[in-house]
Amino acid sequence: MSTIQIAIDGHSSTGKSTLARALASHLGILYLDSGAMYRAVALYANENKLSDAELIAQLDRVKVDFDSKNEIRLNGRVVESEIRSMEVSSRVSGIAKLPAVRKKLVELQQMVTQSVVMDGRDIGTVVFPQAILKLFMTAKPEVRAKRRFEELVQQGKQVSYQEVLENLRSRDFEDENRETDPLKMATDAILLDNTEMTLEQQLREAIALFEAKS
Ligand code: CDP
Repeated sequence: MSTIQIAIDGHSSTGKSTLARALASHLGILYLDSGAMYRAVALYANENKLSDAELIAQLDRVKVDFDSKNEIRLNGRVVESEIRSMEVSSRVSGIAKLPAVRKKLVELQQMVTQSVVMDGRDIGTVVFPQAILKLFMTAKPEVRAKRRFEELVQQGKQVSYQEVLENLRSRDFEDENRETDPLKMATDAILLDNTEMTLEQQLREAIALFEAKS
């Protein structure tokens, strides 16, 4: 069987990672969270109190990868939890619009040669334009904010619903309006609005769409 590439892009907090992970597990292939890579670079900038220009000047010192448990690492340190903080969420879209950052991370993502489900913003348009299946996920902002808020509270993070809603709205705006690789639906992507869908329904739909393509 040839290499499978599946791209799941879309708005923030739409459950891309959850669906991507479930689909990859169903197909027995790798799942890769490209957003975690941008978040790790933003964490590096925050921890070292770097401006955008300072970050770019020392980008060579930032090493981002995944360990054998598929957890994100920043310079060898697992940072799964740290990258989900509101501080990182507030900085990440500003970091993700820097062309030097995108170049570095897109190159790393394109080095994945095995079968993969990758989620992000530009996977179907830039990273894997040849992907066999491209999904573009969206949902009502209030529903997305509620889901993300509940997830963060469960993790013990101190946040308000309003703050989460504002953050996802401003990230969508920044991601859609940046100059380099903006968030947009690939012409051959399939729209999946999961406002009123369970994970099981989304997974069933994604599997059916994949089977129809292969
Ligand atoms: O919060 P959510 O899970 O929706 O976002 P994420 O996938 O963790 O991505 C965090 C941020 O990284 C996004 O808001 C984008 O600014 C940026 N990103 C990107 O520019 N390109 C990607 N392929 C993935 C994420």
